[in-house]
Amino acid sequence: MTTEAGNPIPRFPAGFLWGVSTSAHQIEGAADAREPSVWDAFTAEPGRVKDGSTAAVACDHYHRYREDVALLRELGVDAYRFSISWPRVRSGDLDFYDRLVDELCAAGVRPVPTLFHWDLPAALDWLDRDTAERFAEYVSVVAGRLGDRVPQWITLNEPAEHTLLGHALGVHAPGRRLLFDALPVAHHQLLAHGLAVRALRASGATGIGLTNSHGPTWPASREQADLEAADFYDVLLNRLFADPLLLGRYPEGIGELMPGDAEADLKIIAEPLDWYGINYYAPTRVGAPQGTEIEFGGVSMPAELPFSVREIEDRPVTDFGWPVVPEALTDLLTTFHERYADRLPPVVITENGCSYDGLDDQDRIAYLDGHIRALHRALEADVDVRGYFVWSLLDNFEWAEGYARRFGLVHVNFEDPATLKRTPKASYRWLRDVLRAQKGAGA
Ligand code: BGC
Ligand code: BGC
Repeated sequence: MTTEAGNPIPRFPAGFLWGVSTSAHQIEGAADAREPSVWDAFTAEPGRVKDGSTAAVACDHYHRYREDVALLRELGVDAYRFSISWPRVRSGDLDFYDRLVDELCAAGVRPVPTLFHWDLPAALDWLDRDTAERFAEYVSVVAGRLGDRVPQWITLNEPAEHTLLGHALGVHAPGRRLLFDALPVAHHQLLAHGLAVRALRASGATGIGLTNSHGPTWPASREQADLEAADFYDVLLNRLFADPLLLGRYPEGIGELMPGDAEADLKIIAEPLDWYGINYYAPTRVGAPQGTEIEFGGVSMPAELPFSVREIEDRPVTDFGWPVVPEALTDLLTTFHERYADRLPPVVITENGCSYDGLDDQDRIAYLDGHIRALHRALEADVDVRGYFVWSLLDNFEWAEGYARRFGLVHVNFEDPATLKRTPKASYRWLRDVLRAQKGAGA
């Protein structure tokens, strides 16, 4: 892979927020001390998770959070994005997050909690509108407890993936294969977000955003059928959630498919955001349907979908098989800047990263190096980007892939559950040096 690692990374503006991200279900463990989530039920079904593993212990972050916060402090990040387990809060345990937030504040690291990162309490269902109301109640409880120390909030993580992978294609929890009948799940999450924004503001919270996964869609060819299929996919990934949030309307033809009085709900959904979070990993190449079920990136896609995902050739790929295309991050951000103009609040990249094995992870360094430079180009093109978070601090439970995909800057030895020893990788030291240089004196 080509890198520009020989030259220093350009300087980002003062106050730019550097961070790393994790999520509760993927790292916490201590599953017996909380209510079950849809992920516990899903992983218990044979064949759902590739290596047959569960997140019952994961990185045992619940018990080892002090060590993990020390790793954050040593890394030199400004902020830490983690998620709060709704099932844990339902079982009455907010003390853990209280301790974690205190530890972060003592280490000089800004806590940036995500209030929902896919681990829905098993008793709830996003097909029910009522779940949106329950979410807002839970958010009020969390804000009441942590709001004095949390300056920046994320309501939902990637509602598009949770809808698509969890409810349309059935490869994530809760494992439903509803195809387009999954659309109410999208609407109810958006409504939950809007109600949560109101609940947060009512509690005095500021710095409210949410996080969506976005990436450029590349048509497989210039043929009409491929262009139309790519356009359709682009609506699902890049506009189905962003348009209602930022413009107060669904993309054409979608609003009619939503449950209830979608028009009235859109007023709640479009509550102004203080910032907009984007998770970026790779672009997607999309063409017309091919009439057969296809397997792509571990996801089997039914023949009846109106598009088919294709291989991106001539690019290096990560261990997950995802293509490495840093310049697509610049394109994505300039497209959003043009499309939403003054409706787009300041952007934060809330996830970016890659899975590679090994402690001397030069491929991860090259990936991050390329993407941070691509991000800087977006700033030069006038996109208002305020922060960048690497996914992830630790190797962790990568959903349906189990522990087979390692996204961490820090290696975790899952082979030895007694220690779950953390070992910083080369990329951890590299990022630490990048941050030191960014914060150092001089231009
Ligand atoms: C502020 C936003 C800012 C964001 C990212 C929030 O706390 O309210 O204005 O864009 O942090 O730094
Ligand atoms: C999710 C993370 C996940 C990462 C890598 C994102 O879609 O928010 O939970 O681990 O991608 O697949």
